[in-house]
Amino acid sequence: MESTSAEGVSDSLYIIASQAFPKVCAEFGLQGSPDPAEVSGRAPERSKELERRRVGAFSALFQSHGLGWSDVFSRSDIGAERRMVAEFVPKGSSVLDVGCGRGYFTFACFGRAGSTVSLDIMDGESRKGWWRQFGATGRALGLGGALHPVRASAVGLPFRSGSFEVVASVHAIRNVDPADLRALIDEAFRVTAEGGRLVIAESIIDERDRGAYAELFRIRVSMGWEHALPRPEELCRRAGAAGFREVGVQVLNTDLRYAPVSFPFDASRMEGLRGRYEAAIAEVHAIGERHPPVFILTAKR
Ligand SMILES: C[S@@+](CC[C@H](N)C(=O)[O-])C[C@H]1O[C@@H](n2cnc3c(N)ncnc32)[C@H](O)[C@@H]1O
Repeated sequence: MESTSAEGVSDSLYIIASQAFPKVCAEFGLQGSPDPAEVSGRAPERSKELERRRVGAFSALFQSHGLGWSDVFSRSDIGAERRMVAEFVPKGSSVLDVGCGRGYFTFACFGRAGSTVSLDIMDGESRKGWWRQFGATGRALGLGGALHPVRASAVGLPFRSGSFEVVASVHAIRNVDPADLRALIDEAFRVTAEGGRLVIAESIIDERDRGAYAELFRIRVSMGWEHALPRPEELCRRAGAAGFREVGVQVLNTDLRYAPVSFPFDASRMEGLRGRYEAAIAEVHAIGERHPPVFILTAKR
């Protein structure tokens, strides 16, 4: 059953709540003062008070209007964008979500896919506590019993050949070591059933367009949190080489805020980058959050 409590909210829920808050305020005539200058992301220390107020406001709304966290998810940009990507999944199909991370794409598949297995390597300090959050968020959304998390690497999938009708990877390629990309796509091909589908969604980072996002991406790459993104053509070539057919790419240019923009600044490791980080965040404040376009690669086995 879906949770109608806003207590003990996890980072993953807070991210979607902060996105949905202005919309929910407008829709339900809620007293609240969303900070229009705030960019989405993990709550920095200075926003803790804001976070507490928001969570209190959601608690009241859940009680007075019988709403729950799934209403918040569907009103968040992250939820809306993942549901757009989930439309590339044929209804009722069995899905493997490769690099599920916080689980937003897995959650968006519910009601569309027949079943979803969520796979992630969850290694390193930056993924500490993510499985716990994945479970807690899923339970808050009322999906607890239907979650199937598997900790493994995409380059050695612990499944029999042809196990899934869809293998999807959403905003995860950026976290995969480029040396592993070929093996990831070969493995995706192996576990996709005959006639099944590959779906890959990732950002198009372009220097000339929304440069602040490209700069923030470069900072994350230099911190070792993400990798340089392959171009869509390169992924198409790899998918074809792995044996997929009817490989194609579509571009979604929605302006939806599909990923947190700000990230906690670790002064001890990022000192040399502070000026660049602050300038890029200031530019995002100035132009408003307009996220880069997303490409969706689809292919058939
Ligand atoms: C940005 S998150 C994914 C976002 C998520 N799919 C969503 O819809 O919000 C990327 C994830 O890819 C995972 N990852 C990176 N390399 C991997 C690998 N070789 N195998 C499995 N997961 C991997 C990371 O641990 C991380 O959690």
